[in-house]
Amino acid sequence: MSVFLLAGTAGFIGAKVAEQLLAKGHFVVGVDNVNSAYDTRLKIFRLREISRSAKNFLFYQNDIEDIAALEKLFQKHSFDAVINLAARAGVRASVENPFVYMTTNAIGTLNLLELSRRNNVKKFVLASTSSLYAGQKPPFTEDFPANSPLSPYAATKKAAETLAITYHNLYKIDLSILRYFTVFGPAGRPDMCIFRFIKGIDEGTPLEIFGDGAQTRDFTYLDDIARGTVLAAETPVGCEIINLGGGGEPVPLNAVIAFIENELGKNALRLSRPFHAADMSVTAADVSKAKRLLGWTPRVSWQEGLRHTVAWHNAQRELVNKIIV
Ligand SMILES: NC(=O)c1ccc[n+]([C@@H]2O[C@H](COP(=O)([O-])OP(=O)(O)OC[C@H]3O[C@@H](n4cnc5c(N)ncnc54)[C@H](O)[C@@H]3O)[C@@H](O)[C@H]2O)c1
Repeated sequence: MSVFLLAGTAGFIGAKVAEQLLAKGHFVVGVDNVNSAYDTRLKIFRLREISRSAKNFLFYQNDIEDIAALEKLFQKHSFDAVINLAARAGVRASVENPFVYMTTNAIGTLNLLELSRRNNVKKFVLASTSSLYAGQKPPFTEDFPANSPLSPYAATKKAAETLAITYHNLYKIDLSILRYFTVFGPAGRPDMCIFRFIKGIDEGTPLEIFGDGAQTRDFTYLDDIARGTVLAAETPVGCEIINLGGGGEPVPLNAVIAFIENELGKNALRLSRPFHAADMSVTAADVSKAKRLLGWTPRVSWQEGLRHTVAWHNAQRELVNKIIV
């Protein structure tokens, strides 16, 4: 059994990573400030789901910007690895309020790196993003330059990546930087398109579509992303950036909407919005490195994943109806 510090445990991906680590018999110390970047009812729901079955789980409502609070956790527990999924994550919202993105994504990561160094933690995993490939020709490989971010979100993730690489160079902490590609699944983020589309079509409220809906995404199912993250946390690699993405043909938003309409037996109402300058028109992952280093390939197709996600929304309608998007 290994002991993991998991920052961002109440988050969409963090909660699933916690569940999978616990299922493998590990001990998880979860940290999250449960902020109101989106409706906290979803975060509380996810924490309840984790606590329901877990013996080896402790949760602390702490802010990764607060190094003194984090230090107490490092004194109390001896971590085999630190996984940092805590972040401000919305692309468009980062244009409105870039400062909190900088303090959480860059300084928060630095706090965790510094405490890992002081406490001889051997492994660090950092969640990063496909947004860094803006301007590159798909499919994206990890050696592409990622120096032309379109949003403060991507820029602060690049800052976090660079700090983490510095800590590897200086102190040899084993580092896996995971670049996730548009993740979707049950109990998703209400600021992301799939949650908004399912809720909007189900409730008959118009969907805001930025651009013509022909933009494509390499959608990746939650369970696959979590499995890749757990493998990364368990596998020494030295220092590597690794894509975790669907890896197939990127899917247009219009195809996603048509699929959900079909699943729900309802038609979408649409509100056209101009394409946002911070958005990318296409994302597509080359995932061969993840296969080579971690033995990871995605298992769930976007259609199968979407069926599970719509089923979750149907089962949790009482909660979903209350969520403000
Ligand atoms: N969902 C995606 O498609 C996607 C794609 C690329 C990268 N990522 C990255 O994956 C990670 C997880 O994303 P997610 O989709 O689960 O987002 P999320 O917002 O659901 O999860 C992030 C969690 O971090 C917590 N958090 C934020 N600031 C914090 C702070 N200062 N201190 C402590 N906790 C804090 C939030 O409360 C939240 O629960 C993030 O780093 C994100 O940038 C996600």
